[in-house]
Amino acid sequence: MNQTTTHDLAQKLLASAPRLLRRPKLVLAQRRESGGTPLVDAVACLWDLVDGCLAGNTEAAHYALRLLCAPSDLTPNQLQDAAAWDAFLSDDRATRAPYVSLREDLAKISSQPYTLFSTLLQQYPPVDTPALRNADVLICQHLLGSIVPQLVAIRSLIPNARFWEVLGKPYSANIAAVQALKMHGFTVNSDSCSLPLRGSGADQYQLGSFFQRHRELVRSSVQRFFDSMSPDLMSSEVPILVIDDGGTLSDAVGRISAARGTKRPIVCIEQTQRGLFATRTYSAPRHAPPGGFAVINIAQSLSKLVLESNLIAKSVIENIFSWLDLLMTGQEPITLNKNLQVGIIGYGAVGESIADEFRYYTPKLKGLDSPRTTIVYDRYNTRTAAARRNDHNIAWSVEELLSSSDIVISATGGTSLNDKSAGFLRDNAILASASSGDMEFQGIAEWPSAQRSILYGGSRQQPFDNIHGALSFRRPSGEVHVLNGGFPVNFNGAVDPIDPAEIQLTRALMLAGVLQAIGFVGQDSEKIVGETGEFLLASVVDHFLFETYKEL
Ligand SMILES: NC(=O)c1ccc[n+]([C@@H]2O[C@H](COP(=O)([O-])OP(=O)(O)OC[C@H]3O[C@@H](n4cnc5c(N)ncnc54)[C@H](O)[C@@H]3O)[C@@H](O)[C@H]2O)c1
Repeated sequence: MNQTTTHDLAQKLLASAPRLLRRPKLVLAQRRESGGTPLVDAVACLWDLVDGCLAGNTEAAHYALRLLCAPSDLTPNQLQDAAAWDAFLSDDRATRAPYVSLREDLAKISSQPYTLFSTLLQQYPPVDTPALRNADVLICQHLLGSIVPQLVAIRSLIPNARFWEVLGKPYSANIAAVQALKMHGFTVNSDSCSLPLRGSGADQYQLGSFFQRHRELVRSSVQRFFDSMSPDLMSSEVPILVIDDGGTLSDAVGRISAARGTKRPIVCIEQTQRGLFATRTYSAPRHAPPGGFAVINIAQSLSKLVLESNLIAKSVIENIFSWLDLLMTGQEPITLNKNLQVGIIGYGAVGESIADEFRYYTPKLKGLDSPRTTIVYDRYNTRTAAARRNDHNIAWSVEELLSSSDIVISATGGTSLNDKSAGFLRDNAILASASSGDMEFQGIAEWPSAQRSILYGGSRQQPFDNIHGALSFRRPSGEVHVLNGGFPVNFNGAVDPIDPAEIQLTRALMLAGVLQAIGFVGQDSEKIVGETGEFLLASVVDHFLFETYKEL
């Protein structure tokens, strides 16, 4: 076998890693046959085979070929793929040459601007003297592959920008995306991307505690940012730009800058409703820091409200069915009603889109009918009434919804079931969050629970499972199952759970927010840097992105 062929085989092994790791016994058997020291870890075996092939070892190539040609009847599952990539790329070898470049190729992370970025900047180029020049930039985002082009584009818009450590969230931070950000010169706060082991001990992680932990991490990062600032800079008019998702970072910057009395103007770009509420304390003149606190409101742009929710809804439903596939076929399989009843708590932008999407979604799972109707409950009658007008069944209380649903999807942005209402859950109920963090099902956090492994089934845990594994909570009559560790199901740990071609809209809206703060040519843009208040995304830009995205 010549050198090129063995190199090709190494590449194919890398590209097939998720499929191969779903059959660990097969991988381990090749290792035994090849006479290597027996290993129990399929990931290490696979890397050894890749090494062997790259070194031109013909025996390794022979076994690689056998592995790649082994017949398989596995059905694709995006959750197992994500878990397998995480296990495979967590190996030290993945960060070393020559693998590190392969890793980027495999993860398909590009830093190139999305079409929507280029068209936006052609239509509305930034002014010659951007208002955010020399700014310090603080970022908290979901660290997915599609965030790389967003941050690279923002950096190229702001002359002499200095980027503070980027903060992520454990349930969305993808290992390859974090590595790609580092390769592009960003520093990433690794604690913000991980989670302590789950359990009930003082240092262990319990369902529902994400927000408190995240807030502490973010505040400590912002304290360090201010500690690192010279007195001259502290009293300067050099802006601070905050790019946030959820409001925790903006809140920390508002709170700490007011306490330290900095004169620096602050501009926050915020993409969530929850984040907007968090910023309103400081964007009101009474509590604003002396240099001004401006918030550019992306959350209520029409493009986001109308177009993004459908993407989220589709992804939420697809991930739920990938989960059902795993739970019904893995070790200790669960049994579900053929005719699934789906309940949705919270009929806001996200809940409404999910309820609508169910009308069109056909799951390809054996033994289950397509749930065409959903039952909806919202704590505000006006929203429940809207659901009824849209032909959904409605529940008059959360308890009624829980007692009649096999799958409960919560999109309230808070806690949808407490310890009392949780008593109404059906046995074997499946609980899926579509919101942020892991507060939705806090009411059952104290019940005894066990975590399921995604990749290998049963109790053999990977670090990935600590964040994403399903949690089975026990009570005397049976179990209920919380998907994705209680985090929003569409953040499944994959590099881009929603296709970048689609989610580029959200990324472009954030870029547009930065552009608005900088000032763009083509119309008299409002002065924002140094002001205090909330500013909607400029309607010309919102409209332009809305129409352009629909044409893509
Ligand atoms: N998973 C994702 O990718 C994704 C994307 C966007 C937003 N989000 C998150 O989803 C959540 C919902 O977003 P949204 O834009 O639909 O918000 P929203 O404010 O429009 O809707 C929330 C709805 O839930 C209702 N509600 C609140 N508490 C309730 C309770 N205890 N019981 C019943 N109903 C309750 C509210 O009345 C409201 O109608 C937020 O946390 C948001 O950050 C998630």
